[in-house]
Amino acid sequence: MSRGTAHFLTALFMAAAGAVGYPSRRSATDLDATPRTTVTFDELLGVRHFSTRTLNYSTLLLEDGRGILYVGARGAIFALNSSDVGDGSHRTIPWEASPEKQMDCLQKGKNNKTECFNHVRFLQRLNSTHLYACGTYAFHPLCTAIDADRFTLPSYFEEGKEKCPYDPARGYTGLIVDGGLYTATRYEFRSLPDIRRNLHQRPLKTEESPLHWLNDAEFVASVLVQESKDSPVGDDDKIYYFFMERAGEETTSFFDKSQMARVARVARVCKSDVGGKKILQRKWTSFMKARLVCYIPYYEVLRSICSLDGGGWASTVFYAAFTLSAQWRTMEASAVCRYSISAVQHAFEGPYMEYQDSARKWSRYDGAVPEPRPGSCITDHSRRKGYNSSQDLPNSVLDFVKLHPLMFEEVKPAGGEPLLVKKSVAYSQLAVDRVQALDGHSYDVLFMGTGDGWIHKAVVVGSGIHIVEEVQVFREPQPVESLVISQAQRSLYVGAASGVLQMPLASCARYISCYDCVLARDPYCAWDGRSCCAITAADDRGLVQDIQSGNKGCRSSTGRVRVPSGSLPWKNRTVLQGDDVLLPCDQRSNLARAIWLLNGSEVPGTGQDRLRVGVDGLLVMDTLPQHSGQYRCYGEERGLREGQEQDAAADSKMHWPQDGQPPLCPAVW
Ligand SMILES: *[C@@H]1O[C@H](CO)[C@@H](O)[C@H](O)[C@H]1NC(C)=O
Ligand SMILES: *[C@@H]1O[C@H](CO)[C@@H](O)[C@H](O)[C@H]1NC(C)=O
Ligand SMILES: *[C@@H]1O[C@H](CO)[C@@H](O)[C@H](O)[C@H]1NC(C)=O
Ligand SMILES: *[C@@H]1O[C@H](CO)[C@@H](O)[C@H](O)[C@H]1NC(C)=O
Ligand SMILES: *[C@@H]1O[C@H](CO)[C@@H](O)[C@H](O)[C@H]1NC(C)=O
Ligand SMILES: *[C@@H]1O[C@H](CO)[C@@H](O)[C@H](O)[C@H]1NC(C)=O
Repeated sequence: MSRGTAHFLTALFMAAAGAVGYPSRRSATDLDATPRTTVTFDELLGVRHFSTRTLNYSTLLLEDGRGILYVGARGAIFALNSSDVGDGSHRTIPWEASPEKQMDCLQKGKNNKTECFNHVRFLQRLNSTHLYACGTYAFHPLCTAIDADRFTLPSYFEEGKEKCPYDPARGYTGLIVDGGLYTATRYEFRSLPDIRRNLHQRPLKTEESPLHWLNDAEFVASVLVQESKDSPVGDDDKIYYFFMERAGEETTSFFDKSQMARVARVARVCKSDVGGKKILQRKWTSFMKARLVCYIPYYEVLRSICSLDGGGWASTVFYAAFTLSAQWRTMEASAVCRYSISAVQHAFEGPYMEYQDSARKWSRYDGAVPEPRPGSCITDHSRRKGYNSSQDLPNSVLDFVKLHPLMFEEVKPAGGEPLLVKKSVAYSQLAVDRVQALDGHSYDVLFMGTGDGWIHKAVVVGSGIHIVEEVQVFREPQPVESLVISQAQRSLYVGAASGVLQMPLASCARYISCYDCVLARDPYCAWDGRSCCAITAADDRGLVQDIQSGNKGCRSSTGRVRVPSGSLPWKNRTVLQGDDVLLPCDQRSNLARAIWLLNGSEVPGTGQDRLRVGVDGLLVMDTLPQHSGQYRCYGEERGLREGQEQDAAADSKMHWPQDGQPPLCPAVW
């Protein structure tokens, strides 16, 4: 074969909707949960940034009504304008650890680069005038009430050692409920983990003897569920805690038995608990815990929890992100499970576990259970029996509570399995929004922050998840530390080590054709005949959206497929005879399959010895002059071929279709 004869391959690289295409980080092997589109940092639209010389913007408090996003960072608290966190109007409270305390901290052998600072770890609204904040203060935690209007550092501080951990990296969660401060963490290095109530007439703790109610617990989240509201049985509000701890009860064959497994747990306490009189004095009388399982086939580590209720507490759902434990670090993966409040209640109403001293293990307790049911809140039923508060409870009940903190049943996820399992990703944070779609259904949209600075946005459809997009929100890889959604600003705020980022909940204008808009299955977006627009629940303008199947509506509403592509040049490639040439097909969608037409006929996926259709393009091997021709590629997704009906360009340029228009979507901002 004579090499060196040049000939031409004319290739039209037409991506799914004509864009130049996003670089894909994906391989084809994890198609199960591949985000449909990939948006890199340089392609972000409409985002705002806030950062200063400070680090660790980990604690976010959004006050949507006041239009303020408060941020607790390392050595400072900021008040940002929630409509634009980067508008330069921020106010700052510098709050550094004093030099003496930093010196103390260094002398204790702590890390001078990360630990001996004041990491603000708690920031919540205390009352109508004040915020409450706690910081680690170089391993010497302090708390204080801050006048939100004046926004200056007060001169009075409270000892923080029972409210805030010493260690900036320790798992910690806290809530202010009716003025009471409910926190859970391991406060000091040597102390036991504890769920505490402070700033309250009746401070309470968890019990430590003869049983530890918590074993080496690492806390993830706490959620108030207002079960007293319209309760027909006069029930109480409850605070639910989510954490990992060392399991005494399980000996799962899957794990090395010699190594104590750590498991995910949910625990709860009642808001009106005031402790016992003689037994469980100044301790919770309503503490109960149960195992939380997600059923990924590996050792699971709880990372984040978010919750949502559809107007009443009984509709509360919890979403949980799990990753594989460190033992499996070579194989990074995450899972998301959903739990209904009724599944949690079911476990708490079921049988108890008991510790058998002789056998040194936990097993199901089948003996008599005293009345009122141990661990339950004070209800009308107990009030009728004369138990007006937890201090009136009989000794038999309190003794039982002391020894039976753990429930026998585990809390199972909805559908009995994860909604999503995703390889090569470690989710570190979750936030959820419920969106009314045009089909009359509400869909839960999850924003999942990763360990390397990306956000995965996903819509829950039935028992599965469709990942709409993955967005790189920080150029430097770093864990997403916190996520907050603002309905008023239609924004997601992302806190991380290097700063705070604000991004729109949806960037519908990114979808530039009807098919692209519908295939995205983004409940915030719909096609209005000309562009993909952000919708509101009341919208009714003959909009096209298909969350359920993601492929219906375009043809009927617009008559034919329109591809408002930008000018798509034919690219001429000159190839040496005998060379191999790869023709790339840039797809907007990671889920689209490339289909190649050569001189108008489809190139079969197999059976052509010199043409190979692969994920990254069409490989033409050992080229001959007769391989010259017009190569076009299409994206096929969910049975739709985008660009299919477009006329083949005879000349070397593509034009706007006659009736097509460039996207004209009003911006969300
Ligand atoms: C604070 O940010 C630094 C720099 O990125 C990081 O190394 C450290 O782990 C962060 N600390 C906390 C407590 O998040
Ligand atoms: C935030 O910015 C918007 C737009 O610039 C402005 O109208 C609003 O007053 C600001 N809010 C606060 C709390 O400063
Ligand atoms: C931290 O300690 C190291 C070693 O003792 C020292 O070289 C470094 O300058 C210190 N850094 C700071 C910020 O103090
Ligand atoms: C809010 O709490 C602060 C600190 O305890 C107190 O000084 C202030 O008076 C309280 N404000 C109201 C309106 O109760
Ligand atoms: C409980 O409250 C009722 C009504 O307020 C009262 O009559 C009763 O004595 C109280 N019982 C106890 C044990 O305090
Ligand atoms: C495509 O068409 C051109 C022009 O008609 C022809 O020269 C070429 O051989 C065709 N290519 C193939 C692979 O059939």
